[in-house]
Amino acid sequence: MIAEKYAKEIEGILARFPTKKSAVLPLMHLAQHEYGYLSDEAKREVAEVLDLDPTHILSLAGFYSLYYEEPVGKYVLEICNDLACALRGADEFVEMASKKLEIPVDATTPDGLFTLKTVMCLGACDRAPMLQCNLRFEENLDEDKFDQLLARLRTEAGEPSVVEKITSYAIRE
Ligand code: FES
Repeated sequence: MIAEKYAKEIEGILARFPTKKSAVLPLMHLAQHEYGYLSDEAKREVAEVLDLDPTHILSLAGFYSLYYEEPVGKYVLEICNDLACALRGADEFVEMASKKLEIPVDATTPDGLFTLKTVMCLGACDRAPMLQCNLRFEENLDEDKFDQLLARLRTEAGEPSVVEKITSYAIRE
């Protein structure tokens, strides 16, 4: 229960807002951080803490793309394919990313590492194709840069990249 586990943090968040209700978004982020996504239980907990109707949380979770109502991978790759980005090749970029990850949009790789999503304008239209990965922007992308990004994230996640795997197999033999 976030109410018990994060009592101090919740108190700090509530102190920054004039009403309990206005602290709803940070509380949703806290619940999502705890559970990895906003499950029905997580939404109920947030509603309880803020004395809100759970349907209020439900509608906010559905409106904002940074709240996930289904489990997601460790890295959520959100590619903007809104109009300005589409004019700079975002749709082709999404297709390429989907092929590389071997998953369709809105799916997660079997290893739980990557979720691929498309989103509306993120305010970096002049640097398309671009994506947001766990709140970090990656801009002016192309296939090579996407490969590098995946390799970097795999390394960050403690998993050997394809190159490292191939190298280690070669060394073992
Ligand atoms: S349209 Fe993609 S960042 Fe604006």
